[in-house]
Amino acid sequence: VWAHIPEAPADPILGLNEAFKADPHPSKLNLGVGAYRTEDGKPLVLNVVRKAEMALVTDPNSNKEYLGIAGNAVFCRLSRELAFGTSCQAVRGNRIATVQSLSGTGALRVGAEFLKEHHPSKVIYLPQPTWGNHTKVFKRAGLEVRTYRYYDSTTCGLNFQGLMEDLMGAPSDSIILLHACAHNPTGVDPTPDQWKQMLKAIAGKQLLPFFDSAYQGFASGSLSADAAGLRMFADACPQLLLAQSYAKNMGMYGERAGALSVLCSSQGEAAVVASQLKQVIRPMYSNPPRHGAGIVAAILGSPELFREWEVELSGMADRIKLMRSKLHEALRQRGTPGSWEHILKQIGMFSYTGLSKRQVEHVTKKWHIYMTLDGRISMAGLSAKTCGYLADAMDDAVRN
Ligand code: LMR
Repeated sequence: VWAHIPEAPADPILGLNEAFKADPHPSKLNLGVGAYRTEDGKPLVLNVVRKAEMALVTDPNSNKEYLGIAGNAVFCRLSRELAFGTSCQAVRGNRIATVQSLSGTGALRVGAEFLKEHHPSKVIYLPQPTWGNHTKVFKRAGLEVRTYRYYDSTTCGLNFQGLMEDLMGAPSDSIILLHACAHNPTGVDPTPDQWKQMLKAIAGKQLLPFFDSAYQGFASGSLSADAAGLRMFADACPQLLLAQSYAKNMGMYGERAGALSVLCSSQGEAAVVASQLKQVIRPMYSNPPRHGAGIVAAILGSPELFREWEVELSGMADRIKLMRSKLHEALRQRGTPGSWEHILKQIGMFSYTGLSKRQVEHVTKKWHIYMTLDGRISMAGLSAKTCGYLADAMDDAVRN
């Protein structure tokens, strides 16, 4: 019965891990998936995560019971406060329904399923370009996916005029996906003033913002500064959605700890929305895993652990910034044709190099360096040792 099924292509991001593993070349380099690596190219478990985890597993009162459908309630409250801030009116007025999710992707999917059933518009606008999985998540949930202009390849910056025109042209009630900070894949974010203008357009046209926050703390190094756009919207919009992930900022990739928040216009509405979110979750995966959320809740809930986390987080962000300057300098030294200023200017985990598909294929085939075909590289996968090798490969690709 399966004979007629065509083989699906490898995932454009996660599929690179498989190709990388299968490559025997000694100098191979994986800059595909956005996962932090140490200077030695090794995965990093934060000390604060180890500490919280140790306390959790040695606690004689801990157990392996099911969580409720909405997950760990303390984790949900602390996640909401981390994103929106404790002084947010919606937080203080209990107007936000939050459920634990299978990291950011799970939050997006549960949010999408909820919108499909309960929102008047089934149309979602995604920035062009966006994280490759966004399109699939929303299509699979049955929403119609459209795009708004975002990136200007001539300036390697934001196409703000195009973005505003597309927002103004969207039918009212449409859903607008916004990257809260450190836009993936471009590393280009709106300025505070641009956020303000976007808010005016979105609120004025009664569009529904859906924020994806996968990199809080990775853009500026400050958790609150990275939430500034979201917080501005939360103060002014009657409704919005937020998907949060702890994969990157706590390095908890495989623990799948995340949250979906739906901001509502009243406390009663939030309670009703929470009940409907549970209706989405129960037939999908019943209830979420408890381990990762327990670790996150312990860190967010302890002022001491929270401070330790902030230090380690800014350590990761700083190392990425250092890699930007090292790669930029290495390209400058080689006299590689083109301007590479954007590598310094872009923020977050990625750099959108501007390499074409053909050049990426060349770099992968000849130099065994893995990156997505749109020319995105994970800066977090680079080290002082490998910057020169990457610059050699980029230089070669650009000249040939
Ligand atoms: C990425 O963009 O590399 C990450 O968000 C990992 C993923 O799941 O694609």
